[in-house]
Amino acid sequence: MKFFVDTADIADISELADTGLLDGVTTNPSLIAKSRRDFIEVVTDICKIVEGPVSAEVTALDAAGMIAEGRKLAKIARNIAVKVPLTWDGLRACKTLTGEGTMVNVTLCFSANQALLAAKAGATFISPFIGRLDDINIDGMELIHEIRTIYDNYPALTTEILAASIRNANHVKDAAIAGADVATVPPAVLKGLVQHPLTDKGIELFLADWKKTGQKIL
Ligand code: E4P
Repeated sequence: MKFFVDTADIADISELADTGLLDGVTTNPSLIAKSRRDFIEVVTDICKIVEGPVSAEVTALDAAGMIAEGRKLAKIARNIAVKVPLTWDGLRACKTLTGEGTMVNVTLCFSANQALLAAKAGATFISPFIGRLDDINIDGMELIHEIRTIYDNYPALTTEILAASIRNANHVKDAAIAGADVATVPPAVLKGLVQHPLTDKGIELFLADWKKTGQKIL
């Protein structure tokens, strides 16, 4: 499974890119607002740090506007994935932009039928929002299972499932079990995946015993 980080914070992106485990970045208008930076400038900076797909979202609501914005965003760098909302206009824009060779991430997906439409529109990524479904007492992870089953039924559909709106480590694990191709994860959750108290305790015990041997490896 690929790991994307869901943020426009350059410090967090750089730190995670340094691990060599970061495969891409997703942003959205709320994350850009949180960064307090110019949209084009911050996305340009992110594309210089990360080689993998960097999602940048359009804000127009009509297909023509989305296509125009998408073409501008695609010029920022070759690894831009234009993010469009899951509406008929978004699907039309998706079809046009992917036809021009631009990666498209269809976002705000809350049903399996929406995901089927996005795949038929040639989306590079479909972003089902797990946490926001959980928030309204609908099992977000069940949606990932449904989409995985549908896409596997039709091998011609090559859209990657990008599990989004991830809120905790269990979401990451369960999305991997469900067969999501990618998880986009907030920085704090991504950094926390490595932590286990028994790992820390184990290191402490091993080092205490090693000290008693008086040996050195280097
Ligand atoms: C996905 O691309 C979105 O940016 C993101 O995952 C939304 O997450 P939220 O529901 O926590 O805002």
